[in-house]
Amino acid sequence: MNMVIITGGSRGIGASTALECARRGLGVILTYNSQAAKADQVVSQITASGGKAAALQLDVGDTRSFASFRKEVERVLGSDQLAGLVNNAGYGLYNPIATVTETEFDGLMNVHLKGPFFLTQALLPLMKPGASIVNLTSATTRVATAGVAPYAAFKGGLEVLTRYMAKEFGEQRIRVNAVSPGAIRTELGGGLNDAFETLLASQTALGRVGEPEEVARVIATLLTEDGGWINAQTIEVAGGYNI
Ligand SMILES: NC(=O)c1ccc[n+]([C@@H]2O[C@H](COP(=O)([O-])OP(=O)(O)OC[C@H]3O[C@@H](n4cnc5c(N)ncnc54)[C@H](OP(=O)(O)O)[C@@H]3O)[C@@H](O)[C@H]2O)c1
Repeated sequence: MNMVIITGGSRGIGASTALECARRGLGVILTYNSQAAKADQVVSQITASGGKAAALQLDVGDTRSFASFRKEVERVLGSDQLAGLVNNAGYGLYNPIATVTETEFDGLMNVHLKGPFFLTQALLPLMKPGASIVNLTSATTRVATAGVAPYAAFKGGLEVLTRYMAKEFGEQRIRVNAVSPGAIRTELGGGLNDAFETLLASQTALGRVGEPEEVARVIATLLTEDGGWINAQTIEVAGGYNI
């Protein structure tokens, strides 16, 4: 069975991606940071329908843990190699540039740019030829949105890194793409309330916010042969956000 890793698979887009991958016949290693019970629920849902899944703890902001994380991944894989990696874990923070602290800046950088860089480096030796990497970025890289400057800047860096990864890993026949969601109904940044949802829907051509499953289907497509000739792209999945 082809095995993929999804970071931040306990909730939101990552959990939906884990379920969608399982539906398409992939085995899933999903990671969680603090919410083990939610990760276990996703694993149970997959195994109950005959799929293969395991949950591992990982703080993507802590690169010192990546060597031991890789060992745990090797243990789960056994003799298998990895067919995919989704660098999805993340969190939102609203604070204007004038008041962002260095600690907040470093935290966002570690999770959204440094973490995906070194986690991919750590797992690269476990990846099989033909594997696929998907990096989650954000439509805030295209549209300047109040209060999310460092987050958006690191997501922009991740889009650049996506092209460099695609170039360097092409020799190993590994594809690398970014998926850039618009406004999606998850718990990111504290989630949606009615007023915020109405605002985001009004900024979206299709007149509503997106659902995590709608992003998950695109990620799963990029992980499988359906997306086999798509490489080095950023695909915005946003229903036409701020166009
Ligand atoms: N929702 C949107 O509108 C939107 C828009 C653009 C981009 N995105 C991007 O899409 C990705 C998924 O976001 P989401 O909306 O699904 O968020 P979410 O519902 O808040 O879920 C976040 C996930 O990331 C994990 N996580 C958070 N910090 C972590 C850390 N330091 N180390 C490891 N895991 C960590 C969480 O683990 P625990 O459950 O264990 O805490 C959880 O599984 C993120 O990269 C986000 O920036 C989302």
